[in-house]
Formats: sequence, C-alpha cells, structure tokens
Amino acid sequence: MAHVWQQPLPQIYNQLSEPELRVRITLAKEQLGKRLVILGHHYQQDQVIEFADFVGDSFELSRKAAEQKGIEYVVFCGVHFMAESADILTDEEVSVILPDLGAGCSMADMANLDQTLIAWEQLQETCPGQLIVPITYMNSSAAIKSFVGEHGGAVCTSSNCRAVLEWALAQANGKVKVLFFPDQHLGRNTAYAMGYPLDRMVLWDPHQDLGGNSESALREADFVLWKGHCSVHQLFRPEHVDQVREKYPDMKVMVHPECRWEVVQKADLTGSTAYIVKQIEAAPPGSQWAIGTEVHLITRLARQHPEQKIIVLSDCQCLCTTMFRIDLKHLCWAVENLLAGNVVNEIKVDPHTRKYATIALERMLTIKASGTPTPSQIPQTVD
Ligand code: 13P
Ligand code: SF4
Repeated sequence: MAHVWQQPLPQIYNQLSEPELRVRITLAKEQLGKRLVILGHHYQQDQVIEFADFVGDSFELSRKAAEQKGIEYVVFCGVHFMAESADILTDEEVSVILPDLGAGCSMADMANLDQTLIAWEQLQETCPGQLIVPITYMNSSAAIKSFVGEHGGAVCTSSNCRAVLEWALAQANGKVKVLFFPDQHLGRNTAYAMGYPLDRMVLWDPHQDLGGNSESALREADFVLWKGHCSVHQLFRPEHVDQVREKYPDMKVMVHPECRWEVVQKADLTGSTAYIVKQIEAAPPGSQWAIGTEVHLITRLARQHPEQKIIVLSDCQCLCTTMFRIDLKHLCWAVENLLAGNVVNEIKVDPHTRKYATIALERMLTIKASGTPTPSQIPQTVD
C-alpha cells in the first residue's frame, strides 16, 4: 500500500471553504442519486460521516457492500483494505472509489504475500500431518485474503473473530493449528477468551527464520500469531486503565480487541467498534466510560450522548492518521469527478486475487450469518 500515490488535487479544492465543499458534495450526491452509495467507517471524521449513506464497523460495511444492487459507484470513506473488500463483494460493474489513495493501514502493511508464502512453506515442513488453517483479519491486503481463501481459511473482523476461529478449530476433529494474520493482539485476545492459555500461542516474526521459533514450539502451538499490530490501539497501556480506575472509581473501561492483551485483561468490556457503539447506546444516563479505540469514534459518542460521561482511555494521540486523510476536499473531488463521468481512485482487485479472496470473505459472511454453519454451507469454490 505504501507505494500508492495520491495525485495532488486541483487547486480549487484547496481554496473552497468547508460550507462550499458541503454544498458541492450535497449537489453532486443528489445528482448521482441511486447510482452512488457512500460507506463510512466509525473512525472517519464527523464532516465525512455526515455524507455517508451507511456508517459501521468493517464487518457491517462489508455486508452493506455485498448487499448493494443496481448501483454504479461505491465511495468508501475508510482505508484501502476496506475498499478492496468492497470491490470484491460488489458486482464486477461497480466501481469502488477511495477518495485519498494515501489512506492505507500500517497493520495491513505488516504482512505481504512473499512473507506469507515463506511462512506457509516453513510451517508445512515443520508440522507434517497437522492441518493448518489460515485466518486473516479484514485488516489485510486482498492478496493475503486470497491466499487464505485458496488454502481453506477465512477472513474475520473484530466482531466475528471468535465465531471464525471456532469454525476453523472445528475442522479435522479439532486437530488444527491456526495461522492468524496480521494482528497478534486480536488473535491472542480472542484465543485467550476462548480458553487457550498464552503458552499455546507463538508469535511469527516474518523477518526471522521459522518466525523466530523452534521447530518444537511450532509443532506444539495451537495458534501461530503474525507479528503485526495497530499503531493506534497499541498506544493504550495497562497503566492507563489503572490511572482511570484511581481517578474515576465508578467508570467502566471498554476497549477494542486490537489493544494489547494486558490492557484487555484489565478492561471491563472488549469489542469491535460496532460493539462499543451498541454498549453506549444501551447504557442508562449517568453511565461513565473510558474507551480505548480511535479518537474520532470516542468524541462522536461523547457528543451524541451528553447524558453519559465518555472519555478517551488515555491522552495519547490515538488518531488513525490514514483514516484522517479522507476529508471533505477529497470527497468533493471524487464525487464531482463521478458526476463528470471520470472514475478517479478506483480500487480494483485483479481477477485471480478476487476469485480466492471472494471465497475467504464469503466464508466469513456465512459463518457470521448462521453462527456455526455446517461445512456444506461454507463456500468452497467459485465459478
Ligand atoms: P472494526 O471496524 O472491525 O472494529 O476494526 C477497527 C479498525 O481498526 C478498522 O481499521
Ligand atoms: Fe489500520 Fe489501526 Fe488505522 Fe484501523 S485504526 S486502519 S488497524 S492503523
């Protein structure tokens, strides 16, 4: 993703005021009508969220993308891997647009296909006779999703990780090793919550032979966790929870599972961004929360729920700089170009990658939809 270059916007977009940009986006959106759907992730800025037809976490947005019929364009206000997944899940004719091509994800960049192929080969050699099921977090490139789909695995998000891992572990009468990409924290937190002790998990460092493990450690482990992380959620530390507890004894601590295991252990609640939103919506007035996730979601929830006290778990700069690249200027430029018949910043996944990434994504959607599906309900092949 790092190689992708965003062309400078025509000067006019830097000169327009915020109200002018709003008027122009509204107008373009009206004129495009049902041809266009704008999807917005919870971590987007309020000014962008205002224009989203659907707002959600990465799971909800992938489902929304899959549901769209008869449209021409999806403008994805989120990051590159989300736009790729939307391209895979929408019909071939639909163009998916990322308003700023610089909106990548440092976590997704922590696993590439070459490293994955080496890891796979080394694991197969080291663990003969063991079934290894690759599972990738949504926050990964389409190439990794495709690898996973081609090798019997599935995609997961932070809202369905447990269900997907249960599905993977139920194969081969439970004699399964999971290779989990690329977020070690989501993998570790979920496996631990399922009852697996930490010594059943090893970390795979793609820059070291055998991921930095001994052969016996790899053979013994139930989970091989890729050494990746989210630079935003990793900023939260256990002492931040201690400080909140001391200052606000009645406050509940709720964190995203991309946070470190030590933080999750100290928190009261852990869940995806959609889970966090639901908890706040259901909480009675007077509830107090310290939340460990991206700052834009937290400040939006605080504004929407003045009847509750909602603070950020720490005063670290927990802002996703790549999500933040999507702003009114880029959105305006993207939709006005669509109106003029120019598709700019289209995210297109090549046919081979698309074929197997579709399997991995559809497996995830099937698992989520029906809890624990039977093997015959899970997509195995595509035409
Ligand atoms: P969810 O949308 O799955 O909660 O993930 C958060 C995130 O980091 C998205 O990049
Ligand atoms: Fe990637 Fe973290 Fe930003 Fe999500 S919040 S897009 S995982 S860097």
